[in-house]
Amino acid sequence: MQIQWYPGHMHKAGKEIKEALPGIDLLIEVLDARIPFSSANPLLSELRADKPCIKILNKADLADPARTQQWQEYLEREQGVKTLATTAVHSENVEQIIDLCRKLIPHKAENTKVIHALIMGIPNVGKSTIINALAGRTIAKTGNEPAVTKRQQRIDLHNGIILCDTPGMLWPNLENPNTGYRLATTGAIKDTALKHDDIASFAGEFLLRDYPESLKQRYQIDKLPETDYELLLLIGKKRGCLRGGGNIDIDKVAKILLTELRDGLLGRLTLETPEDMEKELIELVALQEKREAKKALRKNKWKANRGT
Ligand code: G4P
Repeated sequence: MQIQWYPGHMHKAGKEIKEALPGIDLLIEVLDARIPFSSANPLLSELRADKPCIKILNKADLADPARTQQWQEYLEREQGVKTLATTAVHSENVEQIIDLCRKLIPHKAENTKVIHALIMGIPNVGKSTIINALAGRTIAKTGNEPAVTKRQQRIDLHNGIILCDTPGMLWPNLENPNTGYRLATTGAIKDTALKHDDIASFAGEFLLRDYPESLKQRYQIDKLPETDYELLLLIGKKRGCLRGGGNIDIDKVAKILLTELRDGLLGRLTLETPEDMEKELIELVALQEKREAKKALRKNKWKANRGT
């Protein structure tokens, strides 16, 4: 799936990060705890080389605590990576980021030595909220519209730490379609990029598989249907989403389901597990190999036809 709706500045961000790295002691990547893999920058491991890295699983208040724990253990398997689960809107744990920065750079553990930390995260993960909580003042505008922070800026936290803030960064194309749907389900990317009812179908299928009890409770359903489409129809009936002729207004149902999921009204959910990701990556590699093999076959046939 080729998705090309990201603003141009995001493409530049990779280059900017590379340029900023020499003066940086450590990196802080803010992730959405509900989608720690899909909200991650796939180039970060490569970009950071051997610099220490803190991965913050923010919006932990909306995520499934058991899965957050699973993700923290999984992510910390990577050399030099430490994790923290935070709820930035309540400033919970945000102070711990400072302590962890000092611990990871032992030769600058005293307050008198300045630590330069590069903070990054795709839009809407709560990066601005974290920066504001750390700085104790409003630095970058936070709001509904993803990608409001447009230029790199240095923020002196006045505690021996200088944050270098980078614009939100996403990769230009998403090979794994599920990643796009997960980003859309949490609201990290604009709804207009994918169709509302497609996102809701994806969310419905996921909820039926992973959180059936939450669905039953929220929509007062005794016996869940088998398919996401039947689920949307049922929710539509329960919520009176009708169009002319008594048909269910699927678009309206989709909006209800997505809004309620994003607001945490279906409980604390995490849309992916390390196990899911490993499986999807294997499938993706197999698919790419198949595509390459097909391409090679076509090329050979073409050459044979031309008699070369
Ligand atoms: P960004 O810089 O990464 O783009 O994200 P930003 O801080 O602007 O946060 C995006 C939205 O996520 C904001 O909500 C913010 O309040 C919310 N948010 C940030 N951290 C957390 C968290 O830990 N838990 C929860 N539940 N929400 C969080 P908004 O609806 O866009 O704005 P508003 O409601 O704050 O006005």
